[in-house]
Amino acid sequence: MKTQLLQFNDTDLALSGELIRNGKLVAFPTETVYGLGANALDVAAVKSTYAAKGRPGDNPLIVHVYCKQQIYDIAAEVSMAAEKIIDNLMPASITVVLPKRNIVDGCITAGLDTVAIRMPSSAQAREFLSACNVPVTAPSANISGRPSPTTWRRVKEDLDGRISAILCGDACKVGIESTVLDLSGGTPLVLRPGVVTPNQIEEILGMPVTVVTDPKSKVNSPGVRYKHYAPKVPMALDLSGDTQKLTAYYDGLVKQGYNPVLLVERPEKFGSRNAVCIGGNDYEVAQRLFENLRVLESRYDYIVASFSSTTAYAQSILNRLIRSAANNII
Ligand code: TXA
Ligand code: MG
Repeated sequence: MKTQLLQFNDTDLALSGELIRNGKLVAFPTETVYGLGANALDVAAVKSTYAAKGRPGDNPLIVHVYCKQQIYDIAAEVSMAAEKIIDNLMPASITVVLPKRNIVDGCITAGLDTVAIRMPSSAQAREFLSACNVPVTAPSANISGRPSPTTWRRVKEDLDGRISAILCGDACKVGIESTVLDLSGGTPLVLRPGVVTPNQIEEILGMPVTVVTDPKSKVNSPGVRYKHYAPKVPMALDLSGDTQKLTAYYDGLVKQGYNPVLLVERPEKFGSRNAVCIGGNDYEVAQRLFENLRVLESRYDYIVASFSSTTAYAQSILNRLIRSAANNII
């Protein structure tokens, strides 16, 4: 299959909408990461998403919408809490899990009776979704298990020849995926942390939320069980920011014959060793994280990342780093 590269103009936007309505897969930008879009009302199109990504069938997809009315079309029940999130926060980098209507096929929800819904804040995502004029399922537009793509070139790297088109928009500003908030039960649960923090949600809801982080937990989001965000080379993660410890670890790898790289807050502290800045603050770290991993895996054969920020947002970044490093914390 030839993958068309589409631009952000009226003709190509209209074409991308037409492709989606005709059951094709189109990758598009959002503020978090690029998504792989399919018509949520077309079962065959949705199923082809799993094949294109190599995604396990028991990991459900998020349905993307551009207006609030579409939420009521796919959710069977919108609780008071959900109304508060919808009215006070959306559009934003948050996904809410609500009881689903029958119109949402089980192949989207992996057989669950709930559906995950997201209204992206990015203007380009919203232009695309409004050109589609149908709800659009969209996982991150990467091969399953790889770091999520934050530029259209990274989408092409993974999915060229496997999807109909890539809508070539801006680089993603947030850089990590949306917060997933389950509002289908009594207690609000954060299933996946993101740039919208539990504190922000608690303030809007006026009640405590539970953050579910144990990958073995039954109530967890199915997606967090899988291998995730893995670079092609081994990776280790340090949470202390201790220069001496990192230097010793790096030198040990060199002795074993590796050509490692340090992905750290202050590269200048490591002299002539290979060292790259992970970002000057949490927002920068998140924005560059997946791109950093993809650049470094192509130049070095071992990544040693260090991240010691302890803010609320840092928890979301740590969640990705720990998975990328396959839990190899030093
Ligand atoms: O920022 C994002 O959310 C991006 C962009 C493209 O919008 N999308 C994204 O999709 O990250 P994906 O497929 O990579 O992650 C979807 C997550 C998975 O962890 C999945 O298990 C969870 O959402 N999910 C989907 N439906 C669910 C449901 N009904 N109940 C619980 N978790 C659900
Ligand atoms: Mg993903």
